[in-house]
Amino acid sequence: MRFVPMKNAVPGMALGRDLYDGDGRLLLAKHLLLTEEFIKTLLDMGFPGVYVDDELTKEVIIQEVISPQIRREVVKSVRDMFLQKDLTEKVSSNTVKLHKMVTEVIEEILSNGDIMYNMVDLRDYDNYTYFHSVNVAVLSAMIGASYGMNREELTVLTTGALLHDIGKKFLDIDVLNAPRELSFEEANIIKEHPKAGYEFLRENYNFPTRVFLGVLEHHENYNGTGYPLGKSGEDITIEARIIKIADVYDAMVSKRPYHEPASPAEIVEYIMARTGTKFDPEIVSLFLKKIAVYPVGCQVELSTGESAIVMENFRYFPLRPKIKIMESAKTVNLMLDEDARNITILKLIM
Ligand SMILES: [Fe+2]
Repeated sequence: MRFVPMKNAVPGMALGRDLYDGDGRLLLAKHLLLTEEFIKTLLDMGFPGVYVDDELTKEVIIQEVISPQIRREVVKSVRDMFLQKDLTEKVSSNTVKLHKMVTEVIEEILSNGDIMYNMVDLRDYDNYTYFHSVNVAVLSAMIGASYGMNREELTVLTTGALLHDIGKKFLDIDVLNAPRELSFEEANIIKEHPKAGYEFLRENYNFPTRVFLGVLEHHENYNGTGYPLGKSGEDITIEARIIKIADVYDAMVSKRPYHEPASPAEIVEYIMARTGTKFDPEIVSLFLKKIAVYPVGCQVELSTGESAIVMENFRYFPLRPKIKIMESAKTVNLMLDEDARNITILKLIM
């Protein structure tokens, strides 16, 4: 299986995975052959690409951090929470559901051990906020686990991460999903969301205080230049310092109406350049060990002029994965093969 960006998808390619919308409904089933019409629809909906099965990459296994089924359930629950208008009787069932989801996510992450965050997320424009919330929760939990948090601490962190943007439910959806850069006034309105989310949760939900603070402080900067309170350093809760980095990573890697996705390598550079100013240096170093710069199943361009598919990543050697050359179907281990020493990866095709 491999990932094919939408712009490179052609009719006749066979889907390697089921494709769902944000409500958990199946859009296209695995094994289905893409047609001109499907491709156009997926492009219009804003999907970044599809997973396809082919002869060349049949032995490429893309290991997921959490199972697609749990992912779908969590996306749907978050979506329901964002869309609920009448809260009076929903709070207790939301609380039970959230706790169950968060526990499942944490258990999967802990049982997957040393797995890398290796995801090209298949989501459409309309459901961006819900998929985003789930990705931020997963990446936060992974960073929290490598920080040494226990289950209870991970539950607090992951709950806050899942709800970090819940304040956006009170914002005008057209402004939120606007296919353009926002005006100064609109951007200021959006900046209200950490506080709005914090107040909404504190009034309605009986979570530990640190869940609320993770939500309130997720746009604070390590050097005190963030919002809403301008807190700095360790005055910002550890939960918020972790959620912040996961939030920035997932926002940048997403395809949005007004920007193309940045590659993991570009985001890693962006975050490194802001270590100590926007981001906590200790959290940055944990984050860097978790991100696959060249995700398995993705296509890369080599210094030899050839294209290849990433087959396997090696811990601590993110720039030297095992790859398969597309032209020759030859497998090359960039870390171990002596005659591959001069080959470098120039870029990831997204
Ligand atoms: Fe936010």
